[in-house]
Amino acid sequence: MTTTGGLVVLTFLFSVALLPCRCFNYGKIDPLVYEEQLLWVSGGAGEVSTYRIPLLTFTPKGSLLAFTEARKGSPSDLGAKFIAMRRSIDKGATWSPTSFIVDDGSTADGLNLGAVVADEDAGSVILVYSLCFHEYQCSPSSTMMVESVDDGLSWSPPRNLSVQLGVKNFAPGPGFGIQKRYPPAKGRLVVCGHGTLEGDGVFCILSDDHGRNWYNGAALKSIPYNQKKKALDFNPDECQPFEMEDGSIVINVRNQMNYHCRCRVVVRSLDGGLSLPIEELFFDYTLVDPAVAAGALQKEGVLYFTNPASSDHRINLTLRWSLTNGTSWEANAVQIWAGPSGYSSMTSLDSGSTEDRKYVYVIYEKGHKDYDETVSFVKVHLYGGR
Ligand SMILES: *[C@@H]1O[C@H](CO)[C@@H](O)[C@H](O)[C@H]1NC(C)=O
Ligand SMILES: *[C@@H]1O[C@H](CO)[C@@H](O)[C@H](O)[C@H]1NC(C)=O
Ligand SMILES: *[C@@H]1O[C@H](CO)[C@@H](O)[C@H](O)[C@H]1NC(C)=O
Repeated sequence: MTTTGGLVVLTFLFSVALLPCRCFNYGKIDPLVYEEQLLWVSGGAGEVSTYRIPLLTFTPKGSLLAFTEARKGSPSDLGAKFIAMRRSIDKGATWSPTSFIVDDGSTADGLNLGAVVADEDAGSVILVYSLCFHEYQCSPSSTMMVESVDDGLSWSPPRNLSVQLGVKNFAPGPGFGIQKRYPPAKGRLVVCGHGTLEGDGVFCILSDDHGRNWYNGAALKSIPYNQKKKALDFNPDECQPFEMEDGSIVINVRNQMNYHCRCRVVVRSLDGGLSLPIEELFFDYTLVDPAVAAGALQKEGVLYFTNPASSDHRINLTLRWSLTNGTSWEANAVQIWAGPSGYSSMTSLDSGSTEDRKYVYVIYEKGHKDYDETVSFVKVHLYGGR
């Protein structure tokens, strides 16, 4: 009998140990801003006016890469830019100096970021961005890609994906693209964004061979599709996809013209990014939003969301979390910055190690008078620093 009891205990211990990462009690999620560093400051010396549109990812080797648009002449979305990058090999404690990995020269309507995808299977990092998105003194728009196969140290020359995708206006992200970890279409790269001028909406591009070939996937079109939008029209815009543990892809979307609410649009793909059925769309009234690019992430069954939590101002950068797959959000949201704050993006490391399970990392536009003054990196401890 003792033996059996021991066996039962052993079996129990084993099954607990082998359970995929459910050891933390969800009730104890208590996010704490653990470290914060400014990675870029606008208006300094040199060739850059303004840093905007921050992206963040872990590489397959566990380094952190942060990217922004370095806008050369002015804070405008138009104009010439570099893609600026900093790299951290110690999970954000220290960062390399800035390197400019893409330079669009002196064009009137240069590059715009963008979506970064870590391909765990290929060990590469892919950055997708647009050129001439607004067709201001240029035509056509192009969807471009650069790739690093050495952990972010060096980058390929830009490649024009419009050759495969066809010519359209497509602004990826801003945020991260995903590599499917669960079926359907395990391994697929899914990059979603918005375009294409007056025929606006959310579009996803897909690759089933680690970024060699790309094709057009799901579309969620605006209404009226090919006409200039008015206030309160349906105009799904900048977006952040993330994968649920059941293999569906949830896309959290900017509601550009405040259709139905001043809040986020949420839509889901059940087929690996091939379609976005209207039956899978809802408006998340809790996620009040001033029409901005927001951060969203699924980590160990918990959803995280960052945005300037305000119906009409880019202020009050707030982290929320959901224990119910986004059907409700915990009441005790954490304010990261009360002042001006704009675009944000999140990442985390899913190594399974106890240490990596404790953190999510946020990058966001932060300022005192205007949200485009700095780009800030925040390490958030999910369990109150314990
Ligand atoms: C990209 O390819 C498309 C389609 O071939 C072409 O129209 C466009 O001019 C190209 N863009 C660049 C920057 O070369
Ligand atoms: C959330 O969705 C996952 C599948 O992605 C499912 O396994 C889980 O039970 C759901 N959780 C809740 C609280 O509904
Ligand atoms: C900031 O966001 C929190 C969480 O939603 C909210 O309770 C608070 O009223 C917001 N503050 C401002 C100034 O909008």
